[in-house]
Amino acid sequence: MRILSGVQPSGELHLGNYFGAIQQHLELQDQGDAFYFIADYHALTTVQDAPRLRELVRDVAATYLALGLDPTKATFFRQSDVPEVHELTWMLNCVTGMGELERATSYKDKVANGITPSVGLFTYPALMASDILIYRSNLVPVGKDQVQHVEICRDMAQRFNHAFSCEVLIKPEHRLSKTPKVPGVDGQKMSKSYGNTIPIFASGKKLQKAIGKIVTDSKNPKLEALDPETCNAFAIFELFADDEEREAMAKQYREDRTFLGYGVIKKRIKELMDEAFGPARERKEALLKPGSELDDVLAEGGKKARAIARETIDLCREATGLTGPGS
Ligand code: ADP
Ligand code: TRP
Repeated sequence: MRILSGVQPSGELHLGNYFGAIQQHLELQDQGDAFYFIADYHALTTVQDAPRLRELVRDVAATYLALGLDPTKATFFRQSDVPEVHELTWMLNCVTGMGELERATSYKDKVANGITPSVGLFTYPALMASDILIYRSNLVPVGKDQVQHVEICRDMAQRFNHAFSCEVLIKPEHRLSKTPKVPGVDGQKMSKSYGNTIPIFASGKKLQKAIGKIVTDSKNPKLEALDPETCNAFAIFELFADDEEREAMAKQYREDRTFLGYGVIKKRIKELMDEAFGPARERKEALLKPGSELDDVLAEGGKKARAIARETIDLCREATGLTGPGS
């Protein structure tokens, strides 16, 4: 079984990326032939600053390796090391109606959040479909916001096969984690594009500041019960807490009128994050130093991925008539 997923280097990776995607990626390394990549072509829709993009690509690579991506198990590469992906994107564009892309909710959400839509942002699901199909992937572990894109990918594969009377492209399935939509500090989906994130590897004052921004209601815990079900800070806390601690905190919210409130849970989030990510944070620093394994891992992964992409493209060229008898 081929497992594939990508993450954009459009900002520091955050808790939504971790609990929605990265955690499953790491788990699945042992369950199939895993391919993970840094979606740098996709990031050009938002990052248009060359030194910054280069820095972010290294940052994402170091983050994955520090958190436990094992290059002896998973193929890890940069999207742009496989330019063939654009050739398949074009073929997919030619079998896709405008209406399907117009219905993409991620595009509509980004536009609603003030991001100026470029043609690239609009056709982004076709590039993502090509990422998946070119490696003949079966399973795509992602967060909830990407499920529709995987559905679009399935439609595109089907339409390509139908249009060219072939079985070249394989329809993938998506896979969600237990926490497929992690809220940001403002309560909407945590996302690099919305400026509402808590970065995985923030520490000290920076981490405290990010956690401090979690929006809570203005209930006075001395006078009334707090509601863990609707509390943003609680939703972030329970990503880390074990069942026992979670239940104890929920009970304090509901019943304990000496509970000091949201400051307490925010402090605890910081402690839990330091515990969960402290050691990996140090590994990440080491990976970012010159001479670390990072560049070699990506170069190796890129070569392996490209060879597979090449095979698929050759089949697609043949199926479409770009090559073949008499060409
Ligand atoms: P962002 O929205 O911050 O730019 P990406 O689009 O690069 O993040 O997402 C990388 C992966 O992380 C995808 O699989 C995506 O579904 C997942 N993801 C992003 N934000 C969240 C979130 N808030 N909750 C759960 N998963 C998320
Ligand atoms: N679009 C995804 C995101 O923003 C990243 C991505 C690009 C991806 N290509 C992919 C995810 C292929 C899964 C499979 O999160």
